[in-house]
Amino acid sequence: MQTTVDEVQAREARHILQTYRRAPITFVRGAGVHLYDAEGGEYLDLLSGIGVASLGHAHPGLARAIADQAQTLLHTSNLFYHPLQGQLGERLAHLSGLPRAFFCNSGTEAVEACLKFARRYWYTRGEVRKEIVALEGAFHGRTFGSLSVTADEHYRAPFEPLLSGVRFVPLNEPAALLSAVSRSTAAIIAEPVQGEGGVRPLTPAFAEAIREACAQTGALFIADEVQSGLGRTGSPFYFTTLGLKPDLVSVGKALGGGVPVGAALISEAVAATISFGDHGSTYGGNLLACRAGLCVLDALVAGGLLAHIGRVGRHVEQRLKAMAAKHAIIKHVRGVGLMWGLALTCDAAPLVQAALARRVIVNRTAETVVRLLPPLIITEAEADEALHRLDAALGDVGGTA
Ligand SMILES: Cc1ncc(COP(=O)(O)O)c(C=O)c1O
Repeated sequence: MQTTVDEVQAREARHILQTYRRAPITFVRGAGVHLYDAEGGEYLDLLSGIGVASLGHAHPGLARAIADQAQTLLHTSNLFYHPLQGQLGERLAHLSGLPRAFFCNSGTEAVEACLKFARRYWYTRGEVRKEIVALEGAFHGRTFGSLSVTADEHYRAPFEPLLSGVRFVPLNEPAALLSAVSRSTAAIIAEPVQGEGGVRPLTPAFAEAIREACAQTGALFIADEVQSGLGRTGSPFYFTTLGLKPDLVSVGKALGGGVPVGAALISEAVAATISFGDHGSTYGGNLLACRAGLCVLDALVAGGLLAHIGRVGRHVEQRLKAMAAKHAIIKHVRGVGLMWGLALTCDAAPLVQAALARRVIVNRTAETVVRLLPPLIITEAEADEALHRLDAALGDVGGTA
C-alpha cells in the first residue's frame, strides 16, 4: 500500500470528486486520542473526526465487538428481524425519553427522517401545516431536506430550489421565534448547541420560547443532537439540560464511534401516525451498526464516561478561559462538556494551521471559531498536553496580549 502524501494526493486528484479541501496529512493509524501519519508523526486529536470517534481511536472493546460481529453476521436488511436493533432502540429510549427509533446511516439522514415524520404527523391528522421554523446559523446536513433547514447561503444557493416554507429566525431571540411560529408551523428544528454555527448553545430564555411556541400552536419540536448528543455535553442529550421535551430527535456521529449510524428518535404520538412503508433504509440499523452503537452506549452509561466528560470538561473550560485571558485574539470561550469553541477576533484558519504544525488537531468553523470536539475518553493530562500545544500555536500566530 502506497501511503506517502504525494502519492495519496495524486491518486485522489485523479479519482476522487474534489469536494473536500484536505490538510496535507495522511493518517494511517490511531490509538486513543492519538493519530499517526504515514511518516510516523504523532498528533493529539481534539476533533475526533468531527465528533465521531467518541471512544477514541482503535478502542479495544469497540474493535473486538466489531470483529466479533463481522465473524458472526453483518447485515440482513430490514426485511427480517435481528436481535440487536431492538436492543439499541431500547437503550436510546431510556436515554432520551423517546420510545421509538428509526435507524439510518448518517446525521443528515436522521434529520431527513425527522422532517418526513413531522410532515407525516400533520398529514395523518388532516391539518395543512407545511412550514418549518429553523434558526440562523443552523447546520443540519447536505441532503435536500436537511439543506433546506440549513441557513448558510453558501451551502444552499447552488442547489435551489430547496423545500419551500422554511423560515429562519435569529438564534437566541425569543421574540423573533414566538412571532414566526403559528398554527401553520409543522415543526421547529434546532440544534441544542449549534456546532457548525460556531459552538453556540441555546439560551434558557430561548429554550423557554421554543416550549411556549410549541404549547401555543401545537408545532412539533425537532432537536438535532447529531453533534451535541450522546455525552458530548456531559449529559446524554443537551435538550434535557435545557428542560426541553422534543417530539423528534436526530442523532448520529458519536453513536457508532466511527461506524456509520444515525437515528431519528420519535415520540409515541408521532410514531402512531407513521405507517409501514413510509420510510426505509437498506443498511439502516444493521447488525454491525447496532453492535457498535451498543458498545458506545455501554461505555457512556455503565462505563462511567458521562461522569468523566463532566469532570474533564470542567477542567478544559478552566484551561480555555485561562488561555483567553492570555491571548487577545480570543474573544469568547463558548461551550459545555467536551464541545468548545474559541471565538477569535480574526479568521481562525491560521491558528488551525499553526496547531497542526504543533501536532494538535482542531478545526475552523463559522470562519472565526476554533472548534474542539475531543474523543470523550480524553484524560485531564492529555487535554493539558493538547492545550499546551494550542497555547503555543496561539503564540505562533501572534495571539498573546
Ligand atoms: C447538528 C448536525 N446535524 C446534522 C449533521 C449532518 O451529519 P452527517 O454529516 O453525518 O450527514 C451535522 C454534521 O456536522 C451536524 O453537526
